[in-house]
Amino acid sequence: MAESDRSPLKHFVVAKKKISTIFDQLLEYITEGADFVEETYRNTELEQIATEQQASLISGYAKKMAVISGVLARNHMKVAFFGRTSNGKSSVVNAMLWDRVLPSGIGHTTNCFLSVEGTDGDKAYLMTEGSDEKKSVKTVNQLGHALHMDKDLDAGCLVRVFWPKTKCALLRDDLVLMDSPGTDVTTKLDSWIDKFCLDADVFVLVANSESTLMNTEKHFFHKVNERLSKPNIFILNNRWDASASEPECMEDVRKQHTDRCISFLVDELKVVEREQALNRIFFVSAKEVLNSRMQRAQGMPEAGGALAEGFEARLQEFQCFERTFEECISQSAVKTKFEQHTIRAKQITETVKRIMDDINIQAADKRINLLKERDDKMDQADYVRSQLGLLTEDIKGKIKAVAEEVETKVSTAMTDEICRLSGLVDEFYSDFHPSSQVLERYKNALHKHIEEGMGRSLADRCSNAVNESVQNSQKNMIENLTPLLPSSVQCQLHMLIPCRKFDLSYDLNFSSLCTDFQENIEFRFSLGWTSLVNRFLGPKNAHRALLLVESSAQIPRPLATTSSAPNIRALTPENVSQEELLFSIGTGLASLTSKSTVTVVLVTGVVWRTIGWRLIAASFSLYGLLYLYEKLTWTTRAKERAFKQQFVDYATKKLQMVVRFTSANCSHQVQQEMTTTFARLCQQVDLSQKNLSEEINRLTMEIDQLDVVQHHSKNLRHKATRLETELDSFIKQYLQPQQ
Ligand code: GTP
Ligand code: MG
Repeated sequence: MAESDRSPLKHFVVAKKKISTIFDQLLEYITEGADFVEETYRNTELEQIATEQQASLISGYAKKMAVISGVLARNHMKVAFFGRTSNGKSSVVNAMLWDRVLPSGIGHTTNCFLSVEGTDGDKAYLMTEGSDEKKSVKTVNQLGHALHMDKDLDAGCLVRVFWPKTKCALLRDDLVLMDSPGTDVTTKLDSWIDKFCLDADVFVLVANSESTLMNTEKHFFHKVNERLSKPNIFILNNRWDASASEPECMEDVRKQHTDRCISFLVDELKVVEREQALNRIFFVSAKEVLNSRMQRAQGMPEAGGALAEGFEARLQEFQCFERTFEECISQSAVKTKFEQHTIRAKQITETVKRIMDDINIQAADKRINLLKERDDKMDQADYVRSQLGLLTEDIKGKIKAVAEEVETKVSTAMTDEICRLSGLVDEFYSDFHPSSQVLERYKNALHKHIEEGMGRSLADRCSNAVNESVQNSQKNMIENLTPLLPSSVQCQLHMLIPCRKFDLSYDLNFSSLCTDFQENIEFRFSLGWTSLVNRFLGPKNAHRALLLVESSAQIPRPLATTSSAPNIRALTPENVSQEELLFSIGTGLASLTSKSTVTVVLVTGVVWRTIGWRLIAASFSLYGLLYLYEKLTWTTRAKERAFKQQFVDYATKKLQMVVRFTSANCSHQVQQEMTTTFARLCQQVDLSQKNLSEEINRLTMEIDQLDVVQHHSKNLRHKATRLETELDSFIKQYLQPQQ
């Protein structure tokens, strides 16, 4: 059983291993490629990089590859034996297997198709068509018995015999041998061919050398030849041992058989070249070879039995047949079983490579566009940032200038209005009465009148100009900042930042400003003590003098002026020095000559000397009359006049005090208004900056993804190239004719 040389069948075995490895790699590669394309196609951020068509094409290839891989793994070489009944087909198969595996005998022995293939186990078994049951077989007789007992079997059925590989070298090398019933016992040749012959790599016609080739045998092979292109056909002229009994005509008979066989193969079937035909025709004795091999297997001498003459030559010829057949079947099977799949694999790899190229190009193009887009956005962001910095400084300066201008304007207008205050007060008409209730109402109405009047005048003088100035500045701000915003926001800017009319609020709050005003409308005689002191010393010094008198006399007296004014010192006796007072009195006396009342006093003194007491009496009468006159003319109107005058004096002082405050308040309002507008604009710019930076981040992410896609597709392309090289080397080594 030992093989001295390496079996030619190994060619197929090695090729199968190699192509299976390549196909496993291809399957893994295409599955990875299919996943990659599918993932890229499904990625919504990577639009138009991979198409649905590419994804479905490559996933189809993955399925196809899986099927081919399975087919390749199951592939084996198959030799089918045909010939008339009792020609020795089963004997030839047994001889090749070095054991009596199949039943043989006289008469019609093989009643169905029998395939023999290897099993890794150490027990033989058989399986019949349509059943998964493994029927164990111990002996050939048992097998024959089992086959004959099975009434369901007919000539067109297949029984698979699994024979331990350990017992037979041929079966270890993926060879399946198929025995058949005699071609002369059936009329269903066509269905036999369809069912059993289309995947056979080699056909062996087992002929009987004791007779000539029969038409039934020829007819079958003609049919096979019609269905298959150039089938590999060997002709074994079996029972050649019988010729040993007539050695004188052996050569003639051999030549006759050989010529007929050559004519059949070359001229009729045209399956082989004439010069190659002799390599397909052998004269053997299966019975002898089987016997000898079985004896050898049992450790007995090969020529132990009575062997006919020429046995050695016939054995060698059988061995020669086996070697030639093995070479032929392995070469042929490699080609028929692997060539089409290899070509298909090359086409698939080529297509996948093209898909990877397309994806790579698409990703590269898109990446370049996105890089450009991102650069633009980055430039835009830099521009917005720097411009915003510059404009902020500029706009802040402008806001300050406008605010200062408004402050000056309001301050000037208020000063003017304060000068016109007495006129405004004169215009006021309302019921006046010294009673405190009426007076209170009168004051409130007067406050309202002045507040409204002054407010109106200030508004007339300032509001329009200020509003115009504010609106111009705002417009200017918007014009400057608009280019920093995206066009979509630019269109909506008038809605986001409404240009409303700005109303300056002067907020004089006159009633609280004059809340401390205390009028003095009691009757005061013009030549009375208080008035005279007032005239001599002036109102300020008179007041001080009177305070001195009052403090010494401890007589409480209401103050004419408010003590709440912050910038007026409280006039208490402590604050008034004696020197100051004397100086004031002196000054008052010095001015006596210039005043008419003083003249009267001087005249009275002169008259006193010259005219005497009568005149003094007349003077007193006159003084009394004057008092009476003044008392009578001190009417409500006069009181109102005095009230208004006092009020004007008081309010003027107060208003002068709040001019700065009010103008600063107005300036603040303007500043606030403009700052708010600027802040809103900045908010929009910030928003657009944020959008820009988000957009830049998104683009960066997309570019990174495209980088990955590019890298992956390039890798997959390289893998395809490597697999293509392997397929090419397989084709070169196994599928192209060797030189
Ligand atoms: P079926 O199965 O009936 O179609 O016949 P088969 O072609 O399988 O023939 P099988 O191997 O059963 O052999 C038929 C008979 O021929 C058997 O008795 C064999 O011993 C005998 N026989 C086979 N080969 C030879 C041979 O080379 N020489 C001689 N003398 N007899 C042989
Ligand atoms: Mg048989």
